Order: sequence, then structure tokens, then C-alpha cells
Amino acid sequence: MKNRITKAVFPVAGLGTRFLPATKSIPKELLPLVDRPLVQYAVDEAREAGIESFLFVSARGKTAMADYFDKHPSLEQRLATDGKDDLLEKLKNSNIASGDIAYVRQGEPLGLGHAVACARQFVDHDEYFAVILPDDVIKGSPGCLRQMVDAWHERPANYVGTMQVAPENIPSYGILDVESEEGRTIKARGLVEKPNIADAPSNNAVIGRYLLSPKIMQRLVVTNPGFGGEIQLTDAINAEASSPEGVYGYRFDAQRYDCGSMAGFLKATIDFGLNRPELHDDLMNYLRKVVEKAE
Ligand code: UTP
Repeated sequence: MKNRITKAVFPVAGLGTRFLPATKSIPKELLPLVDRPLVQYAVDEAREAGIESFLFVSARGKTAMADYFDKHPSLEQRLATDGKDDLLEKLKNSNIASGDIAYVRQGEPLGLGHAVACARQFVDHDEYFAVILPDDVIKGSPGCLRQMVDAWHERPANYVGTMQVAPENIPSYGILDVESEEGRTIKARGLVEKPNIADAPSNNAVIGRYLLSPKIMQRLVVTNPGFGGEIQLTDAINAEASSPEGVYGYRFDAQRYDCGSMAGFLKATIDFGLNRPELHDDLMNYLRKVVEKAE
């Protein structure tokens, strides 16, 4: 098995119905947090973790995403001529070099597991790979994926990003059945997708970051539809829990925003805005006024 993880799969073929009508023509992953699309945060986090090859599992109507990562020579030329070096730098940072990025299509949204399986030709039989869901934006230093890759180097295994959630939120997540815990690492006996609160084996929820053995790909192609009639990534990972490598939750040290939901997206917009020195004071004054008015 290779001793580095250099490939990441970004499943972005979902319908994004929670953001309709915006997502009728704009992929959810291109909605901006302040001035950068969600997918840019995901790619930056991946790069920081040592990822060199990026594979997007895309779908009909999402070609704008491929354009986003392309070099834009005429715009770069224009910004250079106008001396707008800061903007030029930002623009160039959003490019992914030809050959480092690839796209496959998921013909129908048959589930996250099916989307990941669409990337199977991209992953060799002797390498672990990362999966990143761009609608989970995770702010941390080092980033969440870097933290997980460091844990993987200490003990190569399947890892899922994990955080504890309130009981009422358990039915929205894949949940870990905990065998044992050591620091930030949780050995899983298994995983269950979106359980009822009463049946849930814990409140450790799976968040959209994964480091997976190539065996997951073989499992996915034979995984039957599960919760919601979709092919679930959770089910294939669950089947690996009894393998020699096993499955671990990694309780990352970072702030996660659920940007797949409207409330999460708005909270992230406020936090990322406040984090920008040039916006902070204006935005904070405005928020104070809004809160005063509401009280
Ligand atoms: P979500 O459950 O958030 O679904 O998918 P969605 O379609 O994006 O959004 P809603 O619920 O309709 O608003 C989680 C991730 O899995 C991907 C999505 O693109 C998202 O990154 N996904 C899901 C696929 O790529 N294909 C699928 O068939 C399902």
C-alpha cells in the first residue's frame, strides 16, 4: 500500500434542493461564502493535507464548476495590465493545473455511495484516497483533512471525520457505534446511517471528510440501496469495520459549518465575514443594531 494520500474525490452531483431556486442554474458548491465559492474552501483544505489530484463527481447542469477551476488568460491579462496584483493573485490561486483535475459524471443522483463509486477508475488498488463534501465547510488550523491525514500516518486505516451532535440532530447523520476511544480517535464497531434517536448507538456523527481504503470502491459497486433508497457510503464503510484495518472516527479540532443547510450557510457567511479585517467593524456594527432592534 502507498504510504501517502494524494487523491481526493469531491462528490458534487447532488441536486441541492434545499437551495432551490438558486440551485436551478448555479451548483450549490459555487455559492460564495463572502467572495469564495464553497468548493474553493474544500480544495484549499485538501491541498494543505497534501492532495495533488482532484476528482469531481459532477452532474448535468454543473459545467460552471469546471470553468471555475480553469485558467482565465484574458482576465489575468486584464488584471495584470491594470496593476490589480491582489486580485490577480486571488484569481490564480483558484486555478487547478491541467492534469491535476478530472471530472466524471454521475448519471443519476443515486446516493453519495454511488457518487463515490463513480470515481473508482481514478483510485489505484494500492492507495488510500480522501473524500471531501464541499458543503461541510470546516475552519481549522491545521485543517480537518490535515489532522486526519496525520492520524492516518500514525495508523493507516479508514477514517471518518466525526463530531458530537445534539440528540435531536442524530437522525440527520451517519452515526458511529463506538468500540473504544483514545484521544481524538474513536474505534468504530460499525456505522449506521440516519438512525432514530432511540436506536442510535452514540451521538458521534460522521461529517463530510473521509480517508478510505481502496477496498471501499469494490464494496460500493456491490452495495445495495440503503436508507432513503440511495446507495450509502456509510453502509460500505460499515462493512469495513470488521476488516483488519478497521474504521476510526477522528474527532477533529475545528469549527464545522453545515453549508448544505440554509441556516448553516448563513451562520458561516456571518462568521467568515467577521473574520475579514476589512469587513469586521462594519458588519459587527450592523449586527449589533439588528440584535438591539430585535430585543
Ligand atoms: P446532500 O445530502 O446534501 O444532498 O448530499 P444534495 O442533493 O447535495 O442537497 P439537498 O439535500 O437536495 O439540498 C451530500 C453530498 O453528496 C453529494 C452532494 O453533491 C453533496 O456533496 N451527492 C449526493 C452526490 O454527489 N450524489 C448523490 O447522488 C447524492
